[in-house]
Amino acid sequence: TPWHATALTLFPEMFPGTLGHSLAGRALRDGKWSLDTLQIRDFATDKHRTVDDTPFGGGAGMVMRPDVVDAACAAALAAGPARPLVYLTPRGRVLDQGLARELVAGPGVILVCGRYEGLDQRVIEAREMREVSVGDYVLSGGEPAALVLLDACVRLLPGVMGGATSAEEESFSEAAPLLEYPHYTRPAEWDGRAVPEVLLSGHHAEVARWRRGMAEAATRERRPDLWSRRTSSVAH
Ligand code: ADE
Repeated sequence: TPWHATALTLFPEMFPGTLGHSLAGRALRDGKWSLDTLQIRDFATDKHRTVDDTPFGGGAGMVMRPDVVDAACAAALAAGPARPLVYLTPRGRVLDQGLARELVAGPGVILVCGRYEGLDQRVIEAREMREVSVGDYVLSGGEPAALVLLDACVRLLPGVMGGATSAEEESFSEAAPLLEYPHYTRPAEWDGRAVPEVLLSGHHAEVARWRRGMAEAATRERRPDLWSRRTSSVAH
């Protein structure tokens, strides 16, 4: 049975979004993974189908009701295999390649997308949701974050990435990754700018050495956080 994602959302029309295109879209059509959505509003019980209410203690915005979100979670779990519940929130652990690898190794995910100020804390705890952020900025809802997380997972599934270059070869597959070296293609001169000579030389060992140097320089200059992880933990 293929890797299965369910999104709980007030905006199911936002899915599959970008994941209906390119490599992820082809893999979806080929049945290498599957995606469904549950409309959280369908689990409201009053005649106005209310999903949110004002925060206890006062303050701005609205909070999603725990009973409604819990019923949506129950329906998602009942429909498929037991899968981790992932709540997308800027309060969560920041997504990295290691977490994507961990999630893709399991049966799939149930993604809980909040709007308003977020979910009532009690349903997060009762359902033991894993809280995940896609970065230190605030989105207006969890849906684009869910699409980002899914993209990072799906491209790691067997047979999804095109060509011989596997996801295993790329920089963030390592524990202490380097940023990628810069890429060039034809024409060899464009707008007065030449491609670095070494790339035209046909000397594969020199090309590899140049690329390694460029990757290290980019990492040192742009991502000192990644660079120091490397120099402190890896012998090479
Ligand atoms: N919801 C709103 N902002 C978010 C973020 N940065 N990551 C995950 N979910 C979010």
